[in-house]
Amino acid sequence: MVMMSRLAACYVVNNTGGTAWSSSWKKTTVPRPPPPPARLVAFRRRMATNMVTTTAAGATCSGRESTTMTAAETAEVLRSLDGWAESNLLPLLKPVDESWQPHDLLPDSASPGFRDAVDELRARAREIPDDYYVCLVGNMVTEEALPTYHAALNSFVGYDCPSRADAWARWSRGWTAEENRHGDLLNRYLYLCGRVDVRRVEQTIHHLIGSGMRLAAAKCPYRGFIYTAFQERATAISHSNTARRAGALGDACLARICGAIAGDEKRHEAAYTRVVAELFARAPDAAVRALEYMMRERILMPAYYMFDGRDPDLFRHYAAVAQRLGVYTTADYADLVRFFVDRWGVADLGPGLTAEGRRAQDYVCRLPERVSKMENAQRQRRGPQEPCRVPFSWVFGRQVELQL
Ligand SMILES: [Fe+2]
Ligand SMILES: [Fe+2]
Repeated sequence: MVMMSRLAACYVVNNTGGTAWSSSWKKTTVPRPPPPPARLVAFRRRMATNMVTTTAAGATCSGRESTTMTAAETAEVLRSLDGWAESNLLPLLKPVDESWQPHDLLPDSASPGFRDAVDELRARAREIPDDYYVCLVGNMVTEEALPTYHAALNSFVGYDCPSRADAWARWSRGWTAEENRHGDLLNRYLYLCGRVDVRRVEQTIHHLIGSGMRLAAAKCPYRGFIYTAFQERATAISHSNTARRAGALGDACLARICGAIAGDEKRHEAAYTRVVAELFARAPDAAVRALEYMMRERILMPAYYMFDGRDPDLFRHYAAVAQRLGVYTTADYADLVRFFVDRWGVADLGPGLTAEGRRAQDYVCRLPERVSKMENAQRQRRGPQEPCRVPFSWVFGRQVELQL
């Protein structure tokens, strides 16, 4: 604690340059920092234009809806589901003793055969192309921003104290603990494989956690759980595809690594999908309006604000590589929408809906077809395109083919 205080006192820097206070509390002069490079300015501008307005204090749902859900109503929704979550949600967490750990899937550093095992891992890695590593790094960076997701989840499950023992608090902690292994595993693999610029990748993680994420859910559990259900399914698809691709490239160990993560994501998807199904069963009007809201707001990937200090369009370029390799595509997004509309039985919601609820139902039920049509129209408009090449700092600035 003492060390922390001292360090903090030494590290106070006035952002505008000019004066600062050192730990001895003497006024000192520090040079004005140089202006940020153009790429950083471009990145910050892109972030600013995509930010959503946060809600007013006390209100947890906002936007185009005429009604808002207050913090008390949010708490009530979750309280009413606590018993349900205990018996339907918590069993989807795996006990620690039955869970894989990153150590199980990587060379054992305490074993005498460690160096040989690492050499074998690196020999296999040499056969894998850079575009695959761009996808894997993007997946890893996404996983490593877990502090942001933990904070977001807690903002809508209302978990604010580590001693809380209700089902939502236990779920939040258990889910985070399971997710924590994903970034650890990929990070250690990528460190060992020798194919990526680890420092650049680490800077990207640093930037991403510092930038946060755009989550239109705004503390509303209906919207928040819809978002997480979409995200878990999207990440399950992405990790499954990197697993499949690693297998096709002849690296069964890497396939196992990505497959283990994909298995967790499927289980998490099942959990959040169940929660939303239950919300649809108990409060169909609020649920369908929340789904409409999230669909209109777009489900933006949580790593949208990734930045490596160089490329202000890093996320777009990474997504374009994933699209070209088939790791995660726009067609997958259309499938997600179709899957959840079916799974939550949106078309079959009964006559209990309000006029606004019926409008939302209509919009959501037509959406999968509209997304597919838009995607086809976009493809036809673009016509056959020559792939272009973009340098990625993650692979030491080498050019990687992508389709914008
Ligand atoms: Fe994950
Ligand atoms: Fe997950």
